[in-house]
Amino acid sequence: MSVANTIEICQPDDWHLHVRDGDILPDLILHTSSQFARAIIMPNLKPPVTTAELALAYKQRILDARPLGSSFEPLMVLYLTDNTTAEHVKNAKKAGVVGFKLYPAGATTNSDAGVTDLAKCSTALVEMESCGMPLLVHGEVTHADIDIFDREAVFIDQVLEPLRKNYPGLKVIFEHITTKQAAHYVRDADTSRLGAIGATITPQHLLYNRNAIFSGGVRPHYYCLPILKREEHRVALVEVAISGNPRFFLGTDSAPHTKDTKENACGCAGCYTAWHAMPLYAEAFDAANALDRLEGFASHFGADFYGLSRNTGKLTLKRQQQVIPKEFSIADSKVVPLRAGEMLAWSIVG
Ligand code: DOR
Ligand code: ZN
Repeated sequence: MSVANTIEICQPDDWHLHVRDGDILPDLILHTSSQFARAIIMPNLKPPVTTAELALAYKQRILDARPLGSSFEPLMVLYLTDNTTAEHVKNAKKAGVVGFKLYPAGATTNSDAGVTDLAKCSTALVEMESCGMPLLVHGEVTHADIDIFDREAVFIDQVLEPLRKNYPGLKVIFEHITTKQAAHYVRDADTSRLGAIGATITPQHLLYNRNAIFSGGVRPHYYCLPILKREEHRVALVEVAISGNPRFFLGTDSAPHTKDTKENACGCAGCYTAWHAMPLYAEAFDAANALDRLEGFASHFGADFYGLSRNTGKLTLKRQQQVIPKEFSIADSKVVPLRAGEMLAWSIVG
C-alpha cells in the first residue's frame, strides 16, 4: 500500500482555543490563523466573558489583532455562571454567540467564577434548550477527595447524564475528552431521547499518555487539565477520532501560559499547540494509518455540529520533518510549546 506524503484537506477549524487578551493576541492569532479558518475562543479571561457585550468587544480585539489580509474568524462563547439568566442567553443568540461554556467552579485556570450548582442557572439552560444554544462543558468534578485521574469519569455519572436528562433538548459538547469512559459515553449516547452530543479531542490526548508528564522528571509542559491519562484511554480516544463518527471533532485546547508560570513550584495547566496543531494531529492519524479520516475530524464534523458551513479553502500538509522551536517570544514573555525543541514529522505547505 502506498503511503501518502502530502495531503490536502478542506481548511480546518479549531473548536476549542485559548488566546487570552492584550498584547499577546497578534502572535497567538498568527499561529492559529496559519492553519485554521475559524476558532471557538474560550471565555476564561479575568474577569470572564459573561455577556454578549463583553464577547463582542473581545471579538473586535481579536479581529484587530489578525495579520493583514487575514479572514480568520473568531467564534465567541460566553462563560456560564450562577448568575446567567435567560435574558443573557437571548442577548447572546442575537449577538451571534455560538455557545456557553460550563466550568465547574474551581475545575481549572480562571474558573473561580464557574458554576457552583447547575440549578442556579436553570432558566438559562431552559432558554438554551429552546433556542438551540449549545453548552460546552469542561467535564471534571472538582471535589478534592476525587482522584484527579477519575474526575472526568465521575463527572459523566454525577453531572453530565443528569444534566442531559433534566434538559433533554440541550445540545452538549463534551470538551477535550481524555478517557475511554467519555469516548464511549459520547459514541453510545442515544440522541433520539436526549439532545445531540459531540466531543472535542486535543492533539496531546491523542499522542501522549500520563507517562509523558513524568518521563525522567516532572515535565510541566505536558501538564494540562483534564490531565493526560493511562495508555488505554489514549487508545480509546484515537479509536473514536479516526472512526469517522461525526460526534468527534478537533479542538486543540491550546492554552498559552508564560514559561515562568509553567516552570514553577505550582505550575499552570495548559499545553501550547497553536503553532503546530495540524502537524500534531496528522502525526496521530498517520500513526493509526488513518490519514484519510483527518479531514472529517478536522474540517467537517465540527462545522456540521455547530450548524455552520464548511470552509471552502484548503490546507496542505506534507511529510517533512521540522524542529519545534524551544520557545516563542510573545510580547514581552516566553511561551514554551508542547514537545519544544523536538522533531515534528509533518509540516504545513505554504
Ligand atoms: O489545561 C488547561 N488549560 N485546561 C483548561 O481547562 C484551561 C486551560 C487554560 O485556560 O489555561
Ligand atoms: Zn480549554
